[in-house]
Amino acid sequence: MAPAKTLDYLSQEKTLESSFVRDESERPKVSYNDFSNEIPIISLAGIDDVDGRRAEICNKIVEACENWGIFQVIDHGVDSNLISEMTRFAKGFFDLPAEEKLRFDMSGGKKGGFIVSSHLQGEAVKDWRELVTYFSYPIKQRDYSRWPDKPEGWKAVTEQYSEKLMSLACKLLEVLSEAMGLEKEALTKACVDMDQKVVVNYYPKCPEPDLTLGLKRHTDPGTITLLLQDQVGGLQATKDNGNTWITVQPVEGAFVVNLGDHGHYLSNGRFKNADHQAVVNSNYSRLSIATFQNPAPDATVYPLKIRDGEKSVLEEPITFAEMYRRKMSKDLEIARMKKMAKEKEVRDSEKAKEKEVRDSEKAKLETKPLNEILA
Ligand code: OGA
Ligand code: NI
Repeated sequence: MAPAKTLDYLSQEKTLESSFVRDESERPKVSYNDFSNEIPIISLAGIDDVDGRRAEICNKIVEACENWGIFQVIDHGVDSNLISEMTRFAKGFFDLPAEEKLRFDMSGGKKGGFIVSSHLQGEAVKDWRELVTYFSYPIKQRDYSRWPDKPEGWKAVTEQYSEKLMSLACKLLEVLSEAMGLEKEALTKACVDMDQKVVVNYYPKCPEPDLTLGLKRHTDPGTITLLLQDQVGGLQATKDNGNTWITVQPVEGAFVVNLGDHGHYLSNGRFKNADHQAVVNSNYSRLSIATFQNPAPDATVYPLKIRDGEKSVLEEPITFAEMYRRKMSKDLEIARMKKMAKEKEVRDSEKAKEKEVRDSEKAKLETKPLNEILA
């Protein structure tokens, strides 16, 4: 079968197309709507009030970063009308006919646009999602030709949304810098000229959600991610290498904040890079908008502070581009091993079937009277 260009058709099927079927070890262990309240919900009201709530809020953020690398923020100051407009437009894009979405097809390696599953290559199994992505910072590098132009008016809303989220992200990085005993700007400065990328994830209803993932387990590579999700549920996190999972409770108007690998390295491992995935379901489609703040490609990745008695989590300073390249090649290697293991499994089971047939024919022969065999 030709690769699916959108999931419209596949989501109407009774069974899941085999290219989305995950190995048993990777399948969801917890349901999309079995919500946990383990991830703290932190109100940022009063965060600038140095003589007031600031210290208390900062402590909560730092604790969450040390524990999970994930928390949710409310009272964050991003206007709720802007959030609902952004969501409305994003939904509107995925409701467009397939050919409209495919005007922004990025499968040829284009920087930004629409794609099914993932823009990363070499994956053995596909993710059950569609996405549209665009690069919003640095502003001078914006390529508006790769930003969707429909629904009309989305671009202006996106520009505003990107700006507000960039300042919220920087505000959170200030808190973490201070917690490390550094000047407020330490983490943003380490990003040099901060990149921002917006990924709108759309997870259609899925015929057999227990066999697949919307987005496979990963850590975000960058510094800090702000995720806006709808009320359906599906974002999951693990702290024990994928043995147990929790589903993050959706909170209207909140952002889920995730630390990425860059944030983890800069803090010398003190802050966790959230280990997470997204599951899907057969009742509802789901939408999430992830805004990634990343360092510039040539920014140096190395702990900003190594506490007494600690060893650096990195042997040597590397650029963010190099850090990303190593991560990808490791992921590709894992994907390659999994693919080979799967192919071997198929070959072994075919061989076993052939042997079964041969054995049963042999058994039949052995029980037949000699005159029938010779006839
Ligand atoms: C991501 C991500 C989770 C979700 O886009 O990196 O982790 O719930 N998304 O969509
Ligand atoms: Ni992620």
